[in-house]
Amino acid sequence: MSAYQPVLDPACGGRMFWFDKSDDRVLFGDVRDESWELCDGRRFDVRPDMLMDYRDLPFPDETFRMVVLDPPHLRNAGDTSYMVQKYGCLDQETWKTDIKTMFDECFRVLKTYGTLIFKWNETQIPVSQILKLTAHKPLFGNKQPNRTGTHWIVFMKEDAK
Ligand SMILES: C[S@@+](CC[C@H](N)C(=O)[O-])C[C@H]1O[C@@H](n2cnc3c(N)ncnc32)[C@H](O)[C@@H]1O
Repeated sequence: MSAYQPVLDPACGGRMFWFDKSDDRVLFGDVRDESWELCDGRRFDVRPDMLMDYRDLPFPDETFRMVVLDPPHLRNAGDTSYMVQKYGCLDQETWKTDIKTMFDECFRVLKTYGTLIFKWNETQIPVSQILKLTAHKPLFGNKQPNRTGTHWIVFMKEDAK
């Protein structure tokens, strides 16, 4: 593990989108640490380097150069559904406050002019509704979702005015 890890993924899940799931430039976090068997017999692991809650991150302000943020995007799903097991689920009552606090915390631990990459799938909640939960303005991204409803959006943390 490198001494300074400049990238934080605070909701890493199974690290599916990472080219190198053990990239030592990245600190992988998640609120759970577990492993289970999928219906096809394969195992699915959520093994963060560190347990953490993206609403209350255990790091000083301005720690990371990049934050990669891929929170759960479903708010209506059966507890035992495959999607929920793999990707987690938002709280029906508190999801708006949770997402707002998540953005606040992730921008807090990001260095000024650092990059935040946000992934969102809008099958249940439109991305326009989610972007209203942060005052930070996105720079660019795929404004039209891809065929699965997924957006990738890039922010840069502005100098505090
Ligand atoms: C969409 S998945 C991430 C998938 C991951 N990016 C990948 O490439 O496989 C969302 C993850 O957020 C985690 N999560 C849910 N609530 C969280 C919280 N409050 N703090 C940190 N992680 C959380 C879930 O456990 C789940 O693993």
